[in-house]
Amino acid sequence: MTTRLPRIAWLGGDGIGPEVLDATRTVLDAIGFRAEYIPADIGWKFWCEEGNPLPQRTLEVLRTTTCAMFGAITSKPATDATRELAPALRERGFTYSSPIVQLRRQFNLYANIRPARTFTSIPTPVDVIVVRENTEGMYAGLESRPTPPALLAALDPQRKLPHLREMDPSDVAISVRISTRAACERIVTRVFELAQSLGRRRVTLVEKANVLRATGGLMVEVARAVASRYPAIDFREAHIDTACMDLVRRPGEFDVIVAENLFGDILSDLAAGLTGGPGLAPSANIGDNYAVFEPVHGSAPDIAGKGIANPCAALLSATMMLDWLDHRERATALRAAITRVLEQGTIKTPDLGGNATTKQMASAIIAAAN
Ligand code: NAI
Ligand code: MG
Repeated sequence: MTTRLPRIAWLGGDGIGPEVLDATRTVLDAIGFRAEYIPADIGWKFWCEEGNPLPQRTLEVLRTTTCAMFGAITSKPATDATRELAPALRERGFTYSSPIVQLRRQFNLYANIRPARTFTSIPTPVDVIVVRENTEGMYAGLESRPTPPALLAALDPQRKLPHLREMDPSDVAISVRISTRAACERIVTRVFELAQSLGRRRVTLVEKANVLRATGGLMVEVARAVASRYPAIDFREAHIDTACMDLVRRPGEFDVIVAENLFGDILSDLAAGLTGGPGLAPSANIGDNYAVFEPVHGSAPDIAGKGIANPCAALLSATMMLDWLDHRERATALRAAITRVLEQGTIKTPDLGGNATTKQMASAIIAAAN
């Protein structure tokens, strides 16, 4: 009987994205993992030349695959985006929309899982998993500038902020945070299931329900109800501001964290900063039927093309992919090899204080795996 190989979309993107994915591919091949890899277009170049950083043909390719591995993309503020668009495309109403955000929406990748742990013996060990709700919250994309007066009137019927009504609508900008019961339930349940499957002892919901009473309040209400179905797991609640301070001072109090989109984004970068920086932070965007694995870092234009990017964030993301594909032994072995190389500390890329290249780091990991 022949088993079908997983079909993995390979989205290098911009800057160091393709560099760290090349290294990842070399390592996956060397440890004997077999898959069909399908490269596809994504990134700034396609925005400039076609008016879409995630062309339709890429979406069509993705729909034929099992999951995707994504490197990084460059994105720039709206004014720069318009300026760099090919002359023939200008004034045709194209607006830039982040391809990774588009992917999360298109494939309903509602859970963004970001583990952060220390690999070397720094004074305070950290081992947390931040799970960020990926579809709603502050990043839902419900924004407006100018803000139509009718919208203000609907949002503030009691005129709590009367001065807004006198302003020029183009001087008023609004971004709406949205929360639904269904999305809160789905993310919190996913987190408890994850904690249970990994044998983790505690889940902390990070919110700010004392101020964001509507959205935060709904999340707290739902999380408490879900938590009551998992009595073996300790459930805690923390405010986002206090949680940031405590994560730095007493990281051992955290285990698995669940948070809304914006709070989760900030917390996961904070956790990454505590554990070795962008070169070591992996992530997975998971839905019910599809997943995209990506290092947390961006395209790093300051080091792109120099061959010195740390491939570990991408490689650790690949271990999450191997787990998701149920190649658990291989995932564990690769994680162990990365850990050995980082603990030894003789071969390190510049971000970790060494002078090794991306390729040398990958070779060291291959040697440690065999
Ligand atoms: P960045 O993550 O690209 O870089 C921040 C700093 O970390 C830089 O000094 C960079 O050299 C370093 N760094 C990042 N990854 C590294 C690696 N693997 N090895 C060694 N050093 C590494 O974030 P930044 O500078 O804010 O953004 C640069 C571009 O990336 C922007 O266009 C931004 O929009 C985009 N970006 C894309 C993301 C994605 O594709 N998911 C996420 C974050 C930013
Ligand atoms: Mg971020």
